[in-house]
Amino acid sequence: MVVEIKKVGVIGAGQMGSGIAHVCALAGYDVALNDISTDRIQSGLASINGNMARQVSKGIIKEDDRTAALDRIKAANSIDQLADVDLVIESAVENEQVKRKIFAQLCPLLKPEAILSTNTSSISITRLAASTDRPERFIGIHFMNPVPLMELVELVRGIATEDETFEKSREFVANLGKTIAVAEDFPAFMVNRILLPMINEAIYTLYEGVGSVEAIDTAMRLGANHPMGPLQLADFIGLDTCLSIMQVLYEGLADSKYRPCPLLVKYVEAGWLGRKTQRGFYDYRGETPVPTR
Ligand SMILES: NC(=O)c1ccc[n+]([C@@H]2O[C@H](COP(=O)([O-])OP(=O)(O)OC[C@H]3O[C@@H](n4cnc5c(N)ncnc54)[C@H](O)[C@@H]3O)[C@@H](O)[C@H]2O)c1
Repeated sequence: MVVEIKKVGVIGAGQMGSGIAHVCALAGYDVALNDISTDRIQSGLASINGNMARQVSKGIIKEDDRTAALDRIKAANSIDQLADVDLVIESAVENEQVKRKIFAQLCPLLKPEAILSTNTSSISITRLAASTDRPERFIGIHFMNPVPLMELVELVRGIATEDETFEKSREFVANLGKTIAVAEDFPAFMVNRILLPMINEAIYTLYEGVGSVEAIDTAMRLGANHPMGPLQLADFIGLDTCLSIMQVLYEGLADSKYRPCPLLVKYVEAGWLGRKTQRGFYDYRGETPVPTR
């Protein structure tokens, strides 16, 4: 069963889901944007609008492209409204139980030939695929944050992913203007397997008092030439997402070197999740970010 991808369903209208809807619509795909919270859909649409306006002002896209792309994105307040899509990109919270529940609800509604993908940062594609009715048409399409700016997409096959699904997904990602790196299905794939232990180590460095938030970020920006310090980056990714990825690495690879730093756990328990909640390793409520330690 060959599917022509024309309409894309995006589940989760958070920072990643709205970015994915943004790039899909600009590339000419119709998009149905779903979230469990209708407020999140509305704020997702507002941020897409604002981000496209910024692209117009910088001369990256034309005003006509922006209006046409915004027209292609429709709010799907109920998951039933994804019944006619050709490709689903699931981008809800990084929690396996939540993702499984979504797939259980979604699969009976979908066309049999539709491709089901996930933007998970770390969870096994094979295991998620096995919880659906279509492991052969299931794949990991892992975008980077912020989606409109970042060029890379990791494509991850599960054990049962068919060649047809892989090729259609590869073609789709290329149409978005992104560059593909193919990763095997192991915990956190490639980028996060390397990046998150570094961020976790930066948090240990803070926890053990080796340096302050500012000192650690300055050290890595100026000493390793990273565009952002690791704690600033953790806030940008979301500390809940960082913790989930470390837990997947720790459990999936059964190696203590991936133990999430207790200070990261504490911040998440406090609900200090980084930029999205206005507080993490920095406090974003004022004019300029202020370190919280
Ligand atoms: N943040 C990053 O840098 C990054 C990068 C690549 C991939 N990812 C992955 O993308 C996914 C989303 O991350 P994010 O940063 O956008 O998180 P986020 O917290 O900004 O957004 C998550 C959204 O999921 C919604 N949601 C929760 N349960 C839902 C359900 N049952 N049905 C529909 N929507 C539901 C929430 O309301 C929220 O709007 C995660 O799997 C994450 O690992 C994140």
